[in-house]
Amino acid sequence: MLLTEPVLTADDATATALLNCLVREVCGPEQQVWPDGGRLVLRLPRAGVVLRTGLARPPAGPTYRLAAPYEEQREDAWIPASWDRLADLVAGELELATGRPNPEFLTQVGDSHGALTAILGARGEPAEDPYIASEQSLVAGHRFHPSPKSRQGAPDEWLRYAPETRSRFRPHWLAVPDELVAEEGDPNAFTALQGYGPPPPAGHKTLPVHPWQLSLLSHRPVLRRALAEGVVRDLGPSGAEAVPTSSVRTVYLPEADVFCKFSLDVRITNCVRKNAWYELSGAMALNRLLPRPFLDATFLSEPAYRTLALADLHLYEGLGVILREGVRSLPGTPLLAGALADPYSTLLAGLPAMATPEGAHAWWNAYVAHVAPPVLHAFLDHGIVLEPHLQNVLICVDADGMPVHAAFRDLEGTKLTAGRWDLAHLPPRVAEALTYAPDQGWNRVVYCLLVNHLTETAAAVADLHPSLELWRTARDHFAAHDAHPQVRALLAGVPLPAKANLRTRWARTADRAASYVPVPNPLATPR
Ligand SMILES: Nc1ncnc2c1ncn2[C@@H]1O[C@H](COP(=O)(O)OP(=O)(O)OP(=O)(O)O)[C@@H](O)[C@H]1O
Ligand SMILES: [Mg+2]
Repeated sequence: MLLTEPVLTADDATATALLNCLVREVCGPEQQVWPDGGRLVLRLPRAGVVLRTGLARPPAGPTYRLAAPYEEQREDAWIPASWDRLADLVAGELELATGRPNPEFLTQVGDSHGALTAILGARGEPAEDPYIASEQSLVAGHRFHPSPKSRQGAPDEWLRYAPETRSRFRPHWLAVPDELVAEEGDPNAFTALQGYGPPPPAGHKTLPVHPWQLSLLSHRPVLRRALAEGVVRDLGPSGAEAVPTSSVRTVYLPEADVFCKFSLDVRITNCVRKNAWYELSGAMALNRLLPRPFLDATFLSEPAYRTLALADLHLYEGLGVILREGVRSLPGTPLLAGALADPYSTLLAGLPAMATPEGAHAWWNAYVAHVAPPVLHAFLDHGIVLEPHLQNVLICVDADGMPVHAAFRDLEGTKLTAGRWDLAHLPPRVAEALTYAPDQGWNRVVYCLLVNHLTETAAAVADLHPSLELWRTARDHFAAHDAHPQVRALLAGVPLPAKANLRTRWARTADRAASYVPVPNPLATPR
C-alpha cells in the first residue's frame, strides 16, 4: 500500500476545488458533464466553454477524483487551464446564470490560493499525538468550496495560529472585574483553566482570548480605554499551550483537556467566525436539552461561556468564548473524520484494518454503524438536527484502527426542529436561532451525513480498495430506520440535497440561507 503523501500544490488544490464545485453545483445539475475515455468533460452552458479534467481513478461512487491536467477546448485543441483562468471562467458563468456580479469572488479565490501557498511553505512536524495530528491535517480543506483556505489578512498575521502549519501558541488571559463578566452555564467550568496562570487579581475573573482576535479588536475604542485605564488587564500569554483544531478558531488545551471555542472576526469558508450573543446563550440552552448519554455515541458538551460586558456588543461577541469538554475520556483513539477522508492524507491507509479488502470492508461497516444511527435517531426520534459533516465528527478507533465509537461536536451547528421542543423559556432570538423547520433540518442532516461525510469517506476507502461494494453495506444501517418515510425516500434513491457552497458564496448569502442542489444518491440500488 502506498504510504507516501500525494503531492499537494496550491495551484492543483485550488483548481480541483473549483472544478469539484462546478461539477456538483452547475454542470452536474444542468446535465453538462460526460465521460470521455479516462477523463471527464464539462461544459459551462452559458459561457459556451468546454473543460476537460483527468481522473485519478475510475469513479466508484457519486464523487469524482478529478486530477490534472485541467484543460480548456479551443477550436480542436485542448490548452492548459490554470487555476486563475478557471476562477475567471466560473465567475463568468455564474454572472450569466444569476444576472448578478460578485466583485469579491476572484479576490477570495486568490486569497485562498495565497493562503495555501503560505501554509505549504510553513508546515512544521506533525504532533506525536494522533488526535492532534488529525486535527491539524486538513491542508487543502473543504473539497467542495471555491475558497476553502481564504483567511483575510496577510499570512504573517495568522500563520502562527494556523492548524495546518501544526502550530501551538499560548492564549492570553484577560483579568475582568466580576461585575463586567457575563457568563452562563457551569460556574466551575472555567476554574480548571485558572491553574494555568497567571492568576487574576482578587475580584476578577480570567477570560481566555485568542491573540489573533485580540489584535483584530485592539483598535476598538471601548477596549482601548478599558485596557488603558486598567479596568480590564491583559495578563499576557497564559501557561497553557493551545493547539488550533481544524476549525481554526477552536483550540485544544491538551494539559487541561478542554477546548476553547473563540470568536474570530475572519471569514473562514462561509461564515465570519463570531459567537453571536444569541449563539452563546443558545449553546447553553442546547447543552442542557441534549439527551445524555447521547444515543450510543458522545456529544461533546459545552458547559459554559464567558465574555466581557462593556457597552460594545461587538466586544461582547468578539470576546465571547465557549468551553467544550475534552477528548481524554473517549474510548480508543479519537481521529477527526475529515482527516480520515482527506485524499491528501495517509492516515486512513496507515490503519492496520485497511491492509486487506476484507478488513477495509469491516472497517466501513463499523464506521457507518457508529456514525449514521445516532444522527438518524437524533433527528427522527428527538427532533435534533446534528451537523455531522467531516469537521464535526471524531471517530474513535482501537489498536487495529477499527471504529469503536463516534463523538459529535459543535452546538452552534446543532438545531431543534420546530414544533418538537418547548423553547418558550428562552428569549425569542435565542429560540429562533436554535430552530429549523423540519424539512430544512432533514436537508441539513442528509447533506452533512451522506454527501459531505459518508460519500467522502467511502471515496477514501475506494481509493485503497476500488472493488468493494460499500453502499450495499451502508444501506443496511439506514434500512433499520425505514419505518420513517424520509428514510424510505432515501432508500428509494431520491436525489440528495448538496449544500451549494459556490452558489452561496457567489450570492453572498448567510450560511443558514445556503441553497442546495440535487446530487446522485449512492444508497439507490440499481433497478
Ligand atoms: N468537509 C467539510 N465540511 C465542512 N467544513 C469543513 C470541511 N472540511 C473542512 N472544513 C472546515 O471546518 C470548519 C467547519 O465550520 P464549523 O462551523 O462546523 O466549525 P466551527 O463552528 O467554526 O468550530 P467547531 O467545529 O470547533 O465548533 C470550517 O473552517 C471549514 O473550512
Ligand atoms: Mg464545526
